[in-house]
Amino acid sequence: MVTTPIFYVNGSPHIGHLYSALVADALARWHRMLGASTLFVTGTDEHGLKIQEAAKGKGKTPAQFCDEVSEEFRSLMVQADISNDQFIRTTEERHKKAVHALWKLLEDRGYIYKGKYEGWYCVSDEAFLTPVQVADGTATIKPSDTAGPWQLLTTWRIEQPGVDKQGNPCKVSLESGHVVEWVVEENYKFKLSAFQKPLLRWLENTDQGGSVIPRVRANELFGLLRERELQDLSISRIGSRIKWGIPVPSDDGHTIYVWLDALTNYLTAAGFPWDGEASAAMSVPPSSAWPADYHIIGKDIIRFHTIYWIAFLMAAELPLPKKIVAHAHWTVNRHKMSKSLGNVVTPNEIIGKYGLDPVRYFLLRDGGMVDDGDFSHETLVSKLNNDLADTLGNLFARLTAPSLNPAGLVPACGDLTADDQAFVDRMQRLPDRVSEHYTNVEFGPGISAIFEILYDANKYLQDNEPWKLRKTDPRRCETVLYVALEAARLSALLLQPIMPRSAAKMLDMLGVAADERSAQALTYGRQPGAKLVKEILFTKVK
Ligand code: ME8
Ligand code: MG
Repeated sequence: MVTTPIFYVNGSPHIGHLYSALVADALARWHRMLGASTLFVTGTDEHGLKIQEAAKGKGKTPAQFCDEVSEEFRSLMVQADISNDQFIRTTEERHKKAVHALWKLLEDRGYIYKGKYEGWYCVSDEAFLTPVQVADGTATIKPSDTAGPWQLLTTWRIEQPGVDKQGNPCKVSLESGHVVEWVVEENYKFKLSAFQKPLLRWLENTDQGGSVIPRVRANELFGLLRERELQDLSISRIGSRIKWGIPVPSDDGHTIYVWLDALTNYLTAAGFPWDGEASAAMSVPPSSAWPADYHIIGKDIIRFHTIYWIAFLMAAELPLPKKIVAHAHWTVNRHKMSKSLGNVVTPNEIIGKYGLDPVRYFLLRDGGMVDDGDFSHETLVSKLNNDLADTLGNLFARLTAPSLNPAGLVPACGDLTADDQAFVDRMQRLPDRVSEHYTNVEFGPGISAIFEILYDANKYLQDNEPWKLRKTDPRRCETVLYVALEAARLSALLLQPIMPRSAAKMLDMLGVAADERSAQALTYGRQPGAKLVKEILFTKVK
């Protein structure tokens, strides 16, 4: 099972959301290529105060508002060739059933009690915050100004002083810069404090594959859990304030905290509660769907996934996800993307302008795991022209040109020179290199490795000049073509998770049959004879 975060429907999708979906999609496609069955899930997070207020602001009922914006996310997935098996909405009945079942498990095991919350709440992040997690919104705060492990998770700065709805200076969250409000209310609490040690052990246990990727994020969390004592967590809000949500079972005066609701989506999609009813046997998943193999998330929501989610699952005695992958963010011309700055880049705009696969290529290649990626039209255009049109397009155009190979078939390979052999050796190492990167969710480095071979293949043709050999030494011409065609084939196979449509076209051009496109075909030395077809792959833009 591979998942993305489920996205809030308070606003339309932007390239950050698309990026998470692309990382998960490339991963799911890669695993399918390896022959694994995958359950790939994305969807929308539709409950809570944030959505309730956004709907009100648009003069719509929450249900109508959610239907509309959720549909924008659903159609983005179709438009971007995201190969999700499910699109889950937290307003679905099956999800309510799963949330109630999880609540009952936590309650039965003694981890829920009624208490009182008096503290800060950030509506934008739907987060309860302790005093050390908020700051005076009138101050300009650089991450280095405030010590403490919470700071390490993000690298934002408050660009404008925080003001509340009345325009008065107020406190803001140190993690996100968003405005917070003071809340005093009765609510249900989860005994999160009981999980400090188990969580530390879980983070330490690198046998579990170092469950948090990349490692720097795990180390940050580790510091945090060692230095700060976990407080119990409020897991409901008072129903008179938050109507738009799932009521607490047997106490509908309270609404379940939206993060407990949202996180449960992963279980819902996996078929929880397994036997259709809440029962003692719920802890044992009957199917291979749970535990998840990879939760793909952004660095902004690490705490919710690595502390809250893992603690809920531990308390419920449910199996834990194998890997949580937290990617970095996209900035736009080095600025944080935000509605107030007016610099939000939408998938519609850039897919419409440059085409889907160039966008997939650019985001997956330049997006960061540790460091933020920066979007600019100039960089996208230069990659499209240099990498896709000049390097990749040019190679395929040459290799399928009738002038070079009038027979239009993959030729037989003659004797290899030492230089040929050195190039063949490099391309034989490519699948393992790329496989390791892809499996570690490092698509940028994986794509770079493929493009090294593509540059090499162009250079190899340049050096050997098969267009001259055709007349002087036809046998040698065929060998050169064969070797370069193999570089093209291996590259195209490995690009399938990144640019599915273009890679399919490339493989069609090379006459690769549908059943020769899995990871098993990733070895040098195909049979000669397949038919080559010339097509246009990418065109330059100005
Ligand atoms: O947090 N760059 O939803 P959300 C890269 N509903 N990725 C970005 C990004 C950026 N600038 N901005 C957002 C929520 N993302 C909750 C999640 S999960 C049980 C509930 C991506 O709509 C990134 O994956 O605010 C981030 O974690 C997610 O969108 C947050 O989306
Ligand atoms: Mg957000």
